[in-house]
Amino acid sequence: MASPCGVFGTLFLLLALQNSGFPLSLASKNVYIVYMGERQHGEPELVSESHHQTLSSVFGSKEAAKESILYNYKHGFSGFAAVLTPCQAKLIADSPGVVHVIPNRILNLHTTRSWNFLEVNSHIRNGILSKSQSGIGSIIGIMDTGIWPESESFRDEGMGDAPSRFRGICQEGEKFNRSHCNRKIIGARWYSKGYEAEFGNLSTSDEFEYLSPRDAAGHGTHTSSTAAGDSIENVSYKGLSAGLARGGAPSAWLAVYKVCWATGGCSSADLLAAFDDAIYDGVDVLSVSLGSPPPLSSYVEDAVAIGSFHAVAKGISVICSAGNSGPYPQTVINSAPWIFTVAASTIDRAFPTVITLGNNQTVVGQALYTRMDRNKYYPLVYGGDIASIDSDEDTAGSCDPGTLNETLASGKVILCFQSQSQSARGAGLIFAQFPSKDVSLSSGSLPCVQVDFAIGTNLLTYIGATRNPVVKFNPSKTLVGQQISPEVAFFSSRGPNSLSPSILKPDIAAPGVNILASWSPARSQNQANPDIFKIESGTSMACPHISGIVALLKSIHPTWSPAAIKSALVTTASLEDEYGQSIVAEGAPHKQADPFDYGGGHVDPNKAIAPGLIYDIESSDYIRFLCSMGYNNTAISLMAGAKITCRKSTNFINNLNLPSITIHELKQRTTVSRTVTNVGPVNSIYNARVITPAGVSVRVKPSILSFNSTVKKLEFKVTFRSLLRIQGRFSFGNLFWEDGLHVVRIPLIVRIVLDNFYADT
Ligand SMILES: *[C@@H]1O[C@H](CO)[C@@H](O)[C@H](O)[C@H]1NC(C)=O
Ligand SMILES: *[C@@H]1O[C@H](CO)[C@@H](O)[C@H](O)[C@H]1NC(C)=O
Ligand SMILES: *[C@@H]1O[C@H](CO)[C@@H](O)[C@H](O)[C@H]1NC(C)=O
Ligand SMILES: *[C@@H]1O[C@H](CO)[C@@H](O)[C@H](O)[C@H]1NC(C)=O
Ligand SMILES: *[C@@H]1O[C@H](CO)[C@@H](O)[C@H](O)[C@H]1NC(C)=O
Ligand SMILES: *[C@@H]1O[C@H](CO)[C@@H](O)[C@H](O)[C@H]1NC(C)=O
Ligand SMILES: *[C@@H]1O[C@H](CO)[C@@H](O)[C@H](O)[C@H]1NC(C)=O
Repeated sequence: MASPCGVFGTLFLLLALQNSGFPLSLASKNVYIVYMGERQHGEPELVSESHHQTLSSVFGSKEAAKESILYNYKHGFSGFAAVLTPCQAKLIADSPGVVHVIPNRILNLHTTRSWNFLEVNSHIRNGILSKSQSGIGSIIGIMDTGIWPESESFRDEGMGDAPSRFRGICQEGEKFNRSHCNRKIIGARWYSKGYEAEFGNLSTSDEFEYLSPRDAAGHGTHTSSTAAGDSIENVSYKGLSAGLARGGAPSAWLAVYKVCWATGGCSSADLLAAFDDAIYDGVDVLSVSLGSPPPLSSYVEDAVAIGSFHAVAKGISVICSAGNSGPYPQTVINSAPWIFTVAASTIDRAFPTVITLGNNQTVVGQALYTRMDRNKYYPLVYGGDIASIDSDEDTAGSCDPGTLNETLASGKVILCFQSQSQSARGAGLIFAQFPSKDVSLSSGSLPCVQVDFAIGTNLLTYIGATRNPVVKFNPSKTLVGQQISPEVAFFSSRGPNSLSPSILKPDIAAPGVNILASWSPARSQNQANPDIFKIESGTSMACPHISGIVALLKSIHPTWSPAAIKSALVTTASLEDEYGQSIVAEGAPHKQADPFDYGGGHVDPNKAIAPGLIYDIESSDYIRFLCSMGYNNTAISLMAGAKITCRKSTNFINNLNLPSITIHELKQRTTVSRTVTNVGPVNSIYNARVITPAGVSVRVKPSILSFNSTVKKLEFKVTFRSLLRIQGRFSFGNLFWEDGLHVVRIPLIVRIVLDNFYADT
């Protein structure tokens, strides 16, 4: 465990492969979050008063205490953020009523064809879009880099006034006044105190940042317009993927919480203040495309877990991105069971770009290249052949920053292997990498084409065999259909959950590759003709897809809990691509995707309207889960706002009523229970069907569930028995409940372990 005084973590926006260049300097005095759980007083003023008292005892004076406080959290939960020395932080940790003193962390951010691809469109009769009237009545809160209010996506024609239940404000600031909110953007707030206390004041003189809800980064404008943007005809990114751009819930309202800055960094103290306000404001859905990379903090120390716990307890669905650290296992973040964690998938759109070699051979890569110098041939060189003096050939082959001799690179197209950087200077770049459909890195006027290793090797052979190797590029084309999709994206973070392996994460997959949405012109390199739409990839882009869909479901089923809505989407998710074949996960060739890639599967919004049965969860269940995690009574009581005495329960974690069952250590026999609630026809009879994971037997009892007007909820038990005497790996299956009308499916994940496997070594 890290000492609370020394460690400084970072949260980041979850854009794929983003190189944020974020400064990771340590400050002498640090920001600490003093988290005091559910608030104990009805009056917010009394809450602040008690915070000042707690702090005064450490500072010795009330004035000094007041000065050090950055935020009082007093609506959704109780606590404060303050600038403290490590020693003061330690003293406060021992004060009564304090759950935890958490060093502030810096998080980072995790980018429209996609809606048609998901069949969320008005042509589908009785589809989710028409049934929800495009999400009318739902309020989506976006925690991100703010918003560019002038973007056409945020026009408010046809929108109603903000509902009276909404208590948010339009907070003014630099280049943002009340007139920038409208009937689409009904709330806007910004939070910089935690960030500035750590890194010094944000500089706004250079137009790279605005001390206001205005977005200087583009990321927040992109996610907001993906979730709830209005429809705009005839948009494109430099002519590519031209067509209609729109958000998932175009009639939903937006409440903007700017917690991240153009550096890509966000402070957890600021994030918690935003959660506190969003709960007070009364949003229905929170879309959070950010997080910090593994190792994960415990659920009582992680700002996203804490903020979302209180939001979910008040009926607000919290959707988070899974992270962009794939395809490696155990990389998924934002893994608390009350969070809806989203993996990223590809859609059926590609940007083929033809490369012609001097010998007239052509190969096809992927790029977003639009310049029209069709017939110009450029000299082609291999990065490893033009290494700078102080780097070796191997690293130069990857074209990492600083490895190439810029003089030799000038005017040439450079072939690189596995490059993630575009910093190489030349006339263009061809980079060979694992097959991946993400082309968002390769945008710009420089031809920057990605190819697979086979083509890269082919080009290398051509270079070696030719006296003056040259290439030319054709502009990229937009190709829709004709490719297998969806696939789980290469970069999408994977399970198992490193914090609580019995909780399956991610929960679901949604489009997150090459997504076109609105962008902040302030971020554009070409200020004369700025990009107002941009193609981006990341689990950051997948998250607002689910946020928009959740807003649609909330409009249709306003009384459903966050867990019920999650269950509806997870149990109806798809395991098959458009051609009826099993969904594949990028990363290993033709690997069939499994629940660690995409949770319940790929989102199928129209099916989620009527899921038949739901697996619901109450706040008290999450408390029992926290008990099972071994957190102590005092901490849990404060978090819950009630006296909790954890019973020595035997593995409640397995019995948390999730729409999945993960037995990560099956020794001989384990029985878990689940409860389903009928939300379909009143008189329904469901039969169990199981596809058993390899190496185990599965028994469901009872195997028939009969619902009527008095019986709405039924419990069943599932018993897993190991059939093998080996130390196993994970195997996967499914449990279906079927009534002839609905198919309610949850994934089963089991790993057999031997009792004494490690004992004899
Ligand atoms: C429980 O946690 C609190 C806060 O972290 C700590 O002050 C207390 O000593 C712990 N109690 C026990 C019994 O471990
Ligand atoms: C708000 O800003 C807009 C343009 O940025 C300006 O035209 C308008 O006068 C401002 N309104 C107020 C009330 O300051
Ligand atoms: C940062 O800004 C605050 C308020 O705007 C000001 O009081 C403070 O002196 C500034 N700090 C630095 C280091 O410039
Ligand atoms: C779409 O925009 C392009 C140029 O931006 C224009 O030439 C074309 O006519 C437009 N199409 C429609 C249907 O508006
Ligand atoms: C490539 O094709 C062009 C036109 O089709 C032709 O003029 C040229 O000689 C060809 N070059 C080689 C090396 O075959
Ligand atoms: C780059 O290559 C040129 C020509 O071979 C050489 O003179 C120069 O020293 C090289 N520079 C670096 C930084 O390697
Ligand atoms: C519903 O089913 C239960 C259990 O089978 C039964 O006891 C009850 O009478 C039924 N209620 C109605 C209204 O049919």
